[in-house]
Parts: sequence; structure tokens; C-alpha cells
Amino acid sequence: MGLFRPSTKRKLLLAGMLLLFFYAVYVMVPCDDKSKYVMVPKEKTRYIYGDKNLAIPYGDDMEIIFIGGMPRSGTTLMRVMLDAHPDVRCGEETRVIPRILGMRTQWERAPVEKKRLEAAGVTGEVLDSAVRAFILEIVAKHGEAAPRLCNKDPFTLKSAIYLSQQFPRSKFILMIRDGRAVVHSIITRKVTISGFDLKSYRACLQKWNVAMETMYSQCLRVGSDRCMPVYYEQLALHPREWMLKIVKFLDLPWNETVLHHEDYIGEKGGISLSRVEKSTDQVIKPVNIEALSKWVGQIPEEVVNDMHAIAPMLMTLGYDPHANPPNYGKPDPEVADNTLHIRTNSEFWKQKEKDIFDKLPEVAVPVRAKAEPAQAHREMDKSVGSMNKSSGLR
Ligand SMILES: *[C@@H]1O[C@H](CO)[C@@H](O)[C@H](O)[C@H]1NC(C)=O
Ligand SMILES: *[C@@H]1O[C@H](CO)[C@@H](O)[C@H](O)[C@H]1NC(C)=O
Repeated sequence: MGLFRPSTKRKLLLAGMLLLFFYAVYVMVPCDDKSKYVMVPKEKTRYIYGDKNLAIPYGDDMEIIFIGGMPRSGTTLMRVMLDAHPDVRCGEETRVIPRILGMRTQWERAPVEKKRLEAAGVTGEVLDSAVRAFILEIVAKHGEAAPRLCNKDPFTLKSAIYLSQQFPRSKFILMIRDGRAVVHSIITRKVTISGFDLKSYRACLQKWNVAMETMYSQCLRVGSDRCMPVYYEQLALHPREWMLKIVKFLDLPWNETVLHHEDYIGEKGGISLSRVEKSTDQVIKPVNIEALSKWVGQIPEEVVNDMHAIAPMLMTLGYDPHANPPNYGKPDPEVADNTLHIRTNSEFWKQKEKDIFDKLPEVAVPVRAKAEPAQAHREMDKSVGSMNKSSGLR
């Protein structure tokens, strides 16, 4: 017995080790016979190049800044003020980013289409990764390289929650402006937005209300650490106070340049403007309050009387629906000076506008655009799907 035991022990030990080995193999190698490979991008890090060819790596985990709100709510002013910061580049509206976000929503919402996509392996995850890459490439490459990239397409803020999930370190600025001023501006400047009837103040105010409800509630849900509502009136009246807050919210170092955006138009590392955007003629001027109360006396009386019912978001956002105009506050001295200068030197500012426009790059008009002139200035609105006819779903 004394001789027998060690060999039994050894056998038992060997058997145990074999068992353990097979178990380890079983655990480590997945037993389904599907692909053993995972798709990995060939170059994990991508770069954009600044002047002097300095490379800036970019990716989904960047602190991208998204600026949005209703068109005519100061979104362009906000982006040019940030563009004046040496670390930030926003650039012109891309137009395709709100479109891809609208398509993503449609794919998700149409139940039959969603089933078909999933049956083909085009799952939500696959779509998200493609949409993310699309947005990132557009944001990174449609303008100069900069350490902090920023995007301004008004209606993107309707997808603030989705964007906040796709870009986990992104931040959002929601521009808010008195709906009466927004609608007056849309109507008088003929800003065509799909779904907006430019002949009716009442209908436009209702649309403003719906859009602001969506954007404001999304902003609140994203949370105050990542989405900041900015009142256009307050930014225009007190630019220093508000830019100090905004720059801090975005974790940027303070720079006085953000208060003098008009000095950096067309400069390298400064502000690039578009000939065809409707706000361009306004943002070439320093911050002023010319446009604050232009709407007063312009809205039909029966609409003014029903204001609280037509646009309850006015009240929610703190605007008195029955004050015409409400008291927005007193401008800072610099703003009052700028406004006075603009009012009393209209010839000077007309000439300046002309000089700047003459320097802006010509827009090449593709032949097809002639057939659809109304599209030229159309703002994107995904919720009122201008894509119905041509999207080819169903
Ligand atoms: C502000 O920006 C200007 C222009 O890029 C730069 O020369 C200056 O050093 C910056 N100032 C601070 C305090 O960062
Ligand atoms: C697009 O479709 C939606 C519902 O699917 C409809 O309410 C809307 O009026 C349509 N818009 C256009 C421009 O056809």
C-alpha cells in the first residue's frame, strides 16, 4: 500500500489538471462557430492638420461643442463669438448633420423598416457607429483644424439626448429667444423652414412653441453640466457677463477675443462666414441690440391677444406673453455704444458689409440648383420630414 499510493495520487492529479485545461479552453474559445474576428478600424487615431501642419488627433471622445436652437435665435452670434476664441472652431452650418440625425430617427421610428434592418444585421448599434463617424468627419473636416471643435446647425439640439450619448464628452448650448422676435425675423427675412407657413404669425408661433418644447426638455434631460440654455437677449445686453459663464462652462481659458468677434472675420484661426447664411450681414457688426424689439407692433392684434395660449413656452421660458415688449433689461455701456454707432452710421456699416461680402468666396451654383431655387436658403427641420417623398422607405 505504501508503494501504491503515490502513483494513484499522481494519476488523480494528472486527471485533475487535464480537466482544468479543457475547461480553460472551453471558456476561452467561444463555442458558436460564427466569425472569430472583430472589425477594427485600420488607423485607430485620425488627425486634422492646422497651419504649420501640426496634427490634432480627433475622435468620438472629444469635447465637441454643439450649438443649436430655433433659427433666428442668435445661434450664429454664439458661434462667431466662440469662433473668435483661438482654441475653438465652429464654422458655417453643415446642413447635413441635422439631416443624418433626422434619418436616424426615421429608421428607428418606422417599425417595419426597423425589423427589416435588424434582420439584415443593420442594428441600432451599427447605425449609431456609422452616424457617429459621419458626424465626426463632417465636424472635423469642414473647417480649419482646432483643439476644440464646435458645430452649429440650429435643429441639431432636437437630438441633444442622442448626441450626448454618441459623444459622451460633448457639451451643448441651447439658444433661447423671445418667440415673437424669432417669428417676426423668420417672416420678414423670409427664412424658409419646412413646415413653417411664412404667411401666418399664429402658425409660426405654434411651430416655434413645439420646437422649443422639444429642445428645452432635451436640454434639461441632458443636464446642466452638459447643456446650457443661453438667452439671446441677455447675451446681447451683457456679453461679458455671459461669455464669462459660457467659456467657464466649456472649460476654456478666458480670452478677450470672444468679445470682439467682428475683428476676426476672415482671419486665419478666426471666423469663416458663408455668403448664403441669412445671419451673415448681422454678425459682421459688433454685439448690439438693434434687433431686440423690432417685432413690437408688427404682430396682428388677434394673435397678440391670444399669445399666452398660442405659445405657452414664452411663459415657461420667462417671457411675459402680454408685455409688448417685455423689459429685457438695460444694455452694458459698450453694447449701447455699438448700437448707437450702428444706428447713426448706416452708410459706414453698409459699406463695411459690402467689403466683407466681396471678400467671401463665391458659391458655385450647381446646374441642378436652378430647378429648385426655393431650396437655396432652406433651413433643415427633421421633424417635418422634407424627406418623405424621396426617402424610399416602405
Ligand atoms: C488670446 O488670443 C490671442 C489670439 O490668438 C492670443 O494672442 C493671446 O495670447 C490670447 N490670450 C490669452 C490670455 O490666452
Ligand atoms: C411627412 O410624413 C409625416 C408623417 O409620416 C406627415 O405628418 C408630414 O405631413 C409629411 N410631410 C411632408 C412634407 O410630406
